[in-house]
Amino acid sequence: MPTDGSVVGYPAWVSEGSAGRVRDPVRAPDRFLVFGAPDIRESEIEEVVDSLRSGWLGTGPKVARFENAFGAYTGAPFSVAVNSCTAALHLSLLASGLGPGDEVITTALTFCATLNAIIHAGATPVLADVDPATMNIDPADVARRITPKTRAVVPVHFAGRPCDMEALVGLSARHGLILIEDCAHAIETRYGGRHAGTFGEFGCFSFYVTKNVVTGEGGMVVTSSAERAARIKVLALHGMTKDAWRRFSDEGYRHYGVVDAGYKYNMMDIQAAIGIHQLGRVAEGARRREHLWARYDEAFAGLPIGTPSAPEPGTVHARHLYTILVDESTSGVPRDEFLDRMHAQNVGVGVHYLSVPEHPYYCERFGWLMEDYPHAARIGRSTVSLPLSSGLTDEDAADVIEAVRRCLGQ
Ligand SMILES: Cc1ncc(COP(=O)(O)O)c(C=O)c1O
Repeated sequence: MPTDGSVVGYPAWVSEGSAGRVRDPVRAPDRFLVFGAPDIRESEIEEVVDSLRSGWLGTGPKVARFENAFGAYTGAPFSVAVNSCTAALHLSLLASGLGPGDEVITTALTFCATLNAIIHAGATPVLADVDPATMNIDPADVARRITPKTRAVVPVHFAGRPCDMEALVGLSARHGLILIEDCAHAIETRYGGRHAGTFGEFGCFSFYVTKNVVTGEGGMVVTSSAERAARIKVLALHGMTKDAWRRFSDEGYRHYGVVDAGYKYNMMDIQAAIGIHQLGRVAEGARRREHLWARYDEAFAGLPIGTPSAPEPGTVHARHLYTILVDESTSGVPRDEFLDRMHAQNVGVGVHYLSVPEHPYYCERFGWLMEDYPHAARIGRSTVSLPLSSGLTDEDAADVIEAVRRCLGQ
């Protein structure tokens, strides 16, 4: 036990009265920097109030406005708003006719929702490892995992960096595979001049609270086919025929027909009210995060941690997550201890993600082993996501930088 009041394993400037507390943290506890806090302004608040006053809270004209605006932004011919990206993925898999006996290849470094959507569709997920530099699914490993049962590929544009779409589109075409892009991180992502989500049969976006454009909870399916869009719409609202949401409108009651056992996945006007204004500021938000990203890059250049590689030429990186790699052998600090130290500095952090085979359900059900996905496994054990919301001030960013330095003992 040190006699100077410092904490075992921490540099001398760290001292604490009780576990998890440090004297003189970078930020005071009442200024805890929440990871992924959304940037909500007066325009969103007024639009939500307008919805509340109008009496129309559910799926209605504001959802239609949001869908049109999203289509105009991405260039996708058809956009269908739903209540999450998880729902978007589930419906896209179902609308692709995937089910029991079909294998769907996805990345070993993603959120559980990608996997669960495949499982809920009744198909069998198959993992491919990631490229260690881009952290995106490695097309060469996808090719190795294709079997006669493979029907689809679900790439994730990790952290907002586009996957190698030339390779994935080529592979899908050669093997007759359906391509469903998980664009949860990729609102602004572009590859070769085209928007993420427009390369495959479906693109699935998230507007969850931490995302670049938020609606609280929310998602969007984009597609180039009117037929596929209509199928998603029907499945998203109980399997009821098109425009069922109008059945209580001022145009008079309308009967609907149920044509499938659908789901309750529709977006509400209250959510779209937020999304319309968030999307209106999407370019401003991206510029802000680019600025924060550059500050982090510069500040961390000399530290014993990994930082994100530069975006590939001809692409737009959505800069959704700034992830550093804290490897004990080079940083001198175990990753999980680094997470605790950042928290004690009152700076919120995230982990995106533990590799999929680390989770007990998946490895028990599918027998996956971490050693078969070495890059995803290593990243999952060393990655830390730092705050990067467009609502962060320069002072907030300076605090994050100082906290990282201190937590590394620099
Ligand atoms: C890669 C990925 N896919 C899917 C999802 C699910 O999104 P949602 O929360 O909108 O269902 C997330 C959410 O964080 C995600 O990060």
